[in-house]
Amino acid sequence: MADGTRALFMLFGGTGDLALRKLYPALFNLYKKGSLSKHFALLGLSRKELSDEEFRAKIMTSIADETADQQVATEFVSHFYWKSHDVNNMDHYQDLKKIGNQLDDQYQTGGNRVFYVSMAPRFFGIVAQNLQSQHVLSENGGFNRLVIEKPFGRDYQSAKELNDQLNSGFQENQIFRIDHYLGKETVEAIPVLRFGNPLLEAVWNQNYIKDVQITLAESLGVEDRAGYYDTAGALRDMIQNHTLQIVSYLAMDQPNSFVDTAIRAEKVKALESMEIYTDQGVKDNFVRGQYAGDEDHPDYRHESGVPVDSNNDTFAAGKIVFNNPRWGKTPFYIRSGKKLADKQGRVDIEFKKPLVDIFAKGTGTTGELQKNVLTLEIDPRVGLSLTINTKDSKQGLHTETVPLDYLQSDNRAAQVPLPYERLFHDILNGDGTYFASWPEVAAAWHFVDPVQQVWDTQQPDFPNYQQGSMGPTAADELLARDGNAWFYRGTK
Ligand code: NDP
Ligand code: BG6
Repeated sequence: MADGTRALFMLFGGTGDLALRKLYPALFNLYKKGSLSKHFALLGLSRKELSDEEFRAKIMTSIADETADQQVATEFVSHFYWKSHDVNNMDHYQDLKKIGNQLDDQYQTGGNRVFYVSMAPRFFGIVAQNLQSQHVLSENGGFNRLVIEKPFGRDYQSAKELNDQLNSGFQENQIFRIDHYLGKETVEAIPVLRFGNPLLEAVWNQNYIKDVQITLAESLGVEDRAGYYDTAGALRDMIQNHTLQIVSYLAMDQPNSFVDTAIRAEKVKALESMEIYTDQGVKDNFVRGQYAGDEDHPDYRHESGVPVDSNNDTFAAGKIVFNNPRWGKTPFYIRSGKKLADKQGRVDIEFKKPLVDIFAKGTGTTGELQKNVLTLEIDPRVGLSLTINTKDSKQGLHTETVPLDYLQSDNRAAQVPLPYERLFHDILNGDGTYFASWPEVAAAWHFVDPVQQVWDTQQPDFPNYQQGSMGPTAADELLARDGNAWFYRGTK
């Protein structure tokens, strides 16, 4: 068993929604697969007063769906401990230090510590600073890693302030900023598809690709998260992080090797070469939306917890232009929104048609060559498909388009690790490949801030799209102006 699998986790927000729904099941799966050694312990923390037994009962409930063997589950939860802890109370950190050292000895963790802050973002910096100032970090040669959730700031300035706070206790290579989209199978596969297949990489540029389209559509609305979502909106909630991370994997140049530092360097270069829009550029290249109601469902402004005069965006679409030799003339279109036609995460890459369509002019031929389109399906299906032109089977020469499809089988899907399982695995191995680095986050905010600033100062005409549609018509017009159209139109 590698040393990386020895660790003490200190989980701040140990009874929170994310921890109970996602984090414990993911850790349990790692434990079952043997990736987490018996030399691990988890100290759950929040203000609640719980006994270890009460905490373990919560974990049992949390992992129930993943539990086939009760004995393994019981063994797993025996590694869990609880401490009531207020992150603002300095005295409480002295207890953490003591308990941490005891658990290190008891479980022979090698002094490796993972501090996971699964709490509201305003606590990320406080915890990082206090861990450092109160000497809770391990000092005996083990690793100290800090894991934080989203959102990472609400603009560049607040993100920078947060990053400075984190840096007071942790170096960049010790900080793991979770973006759960980077734990999704298709997203993780992008570098392999590109750099493992000369067939694709050879044409992965403005000479052959007409446009790239990224759609992260949700059919759900704001649900019970208005408190957070109404202060964020689609641009901050889905575009600044998940969407631009996917853009960076699609747009980056080939790294020297597949190690996190080299990959991150290329991703940053790609993100930094996105054109930053002027106010006019924002108006021309970005579209926002808010969903309307129908007979059975309220509009966004009448969802529970949303102010009736809210101008928050529940949909955002935009065009990205790169100032670099690979992508100069190829637009990347992005869109994400709530209450759209389907839950659908995908990338559609449209290739250029041949300069001359000889079949359109040949004697006795009919039809017109179509674009080749490579589709990467992220959610809910995992797969890829390439549409190509071929001859149909009728008499004479007629061209038709057929898909070359790969769809992940149910059998294979059942073996795929959960996103948080992959990410925990990488944290334990110190591999930052599928986490957002600070320069990437900064570049993403530099791109998004001017859009948000224009939107904050101008009154929108909301609501402007129907529930169950694919967003406002302006999002279609955005592409139409370039002679393009969204490849994915929704199933409704
Ligand atoms: P919750 O509100 O469910 O949990 C917050 C936790 O923080 C609770 O355990 C709470 O326990 C604890 N807490 C609050 N104040 C203090 C304090 N002063 N000292 C110590 N503990 C405190 O949040 P979520 O689990 O939903 O979210 C956690 C993080 O994950 C956030 O950054 C969120 O943005 C992110 N996230 C969540 C997702 C989700 O699906 N839930 C999805 C993606 C990201 P107590 O009251 O007992 O102190
Ligand atoms: C989260 C956003 O980061 O991603 C949510 O805060 C959104 O608003 C969610 O619903 C979508 O994630 P997934 O994995 O369901 O596509």
